[in-house]
Amino acid sequence: MDFKDLIKQRRSIRKFTEQEIDKEDVVTLMRAALMSPSSKSTRGWEFVLVDDKAMLERLSQTREKGAELIAGAAMAIVVMANPEVSDVWVEDASIAALNIQLQAEDLGLGSCWVQVRNRFTADGVPTDDAIHELLGIPANLRVLNMVAVGYKAMERNPQNEDKLQWEKVHLGMYNAAQE
Ligand SMILES: Cc1cc2nc3c(=O)[nH]c(=O)nc-3n(C[C@H](O)[C@H](O)[C@H](O)COP(=O)(O)O)c2cc1C
Repeated sequence: MDFKDLIKQRRSIRKFTEQEIDKEDVVTLMRAALMSPSSKSTRGWEFVLVDDKAMLERLSQTREKGAELIAGAAMAIVVMANPEVSDVWVEDASIAALNIQLQAEDLGLGSCWVQVRNRFTADGVPTDDAIHELLGIPANLRVLNMVAVGYKAMERNPQNEDKLQWEKVHLGMYNAAQE
């Protein structure tokens, strides 16, 4: 698939089969993450790869709602970064996460971004803190998100070209008269 089609094809997948992801594909996913651009090339991100079912279940409960799908994923890639290494760690980590998602699509895998930063457990504990505890993550790292990955067990339509909001693209000046 060429990149133009891949971009159109990628949709958030929230149901996965039981099939494990091949080791080489896991390496390919992380290769994409490690090649992502970062501010001043600081590469402040780090990743925890979780495929243990019991841990996936626990991770799925670190949000009041919105993280349930993690329980059924083959793998959760927990994306972290060190704010002391990069003042724009959110951007750095976001780009790495998206690279993983695009690489997943190219490998025929489904993925979904599960937000961690600024989110809370049902008990009001920051999701970031709950995940630190579960995975033994050092205090100097912050968790941005988890990328759920696995073989797709649901079909999604590709992006609809007819619904693209071209009016949000401004030529030359905001509000410039456009033909
Ligand atoms: C910053 C961000 C946070 C997101 N958080 C969640 C989440 O916590 N749970 C979830 O199921 N999907 C989450 N998503 C996925 C979005 O819901 C999804 O990308 C959006 O609905 C567009 O659908 P698409 O990815 O199929 O194009 C998140 C996406 C982004 C970019």
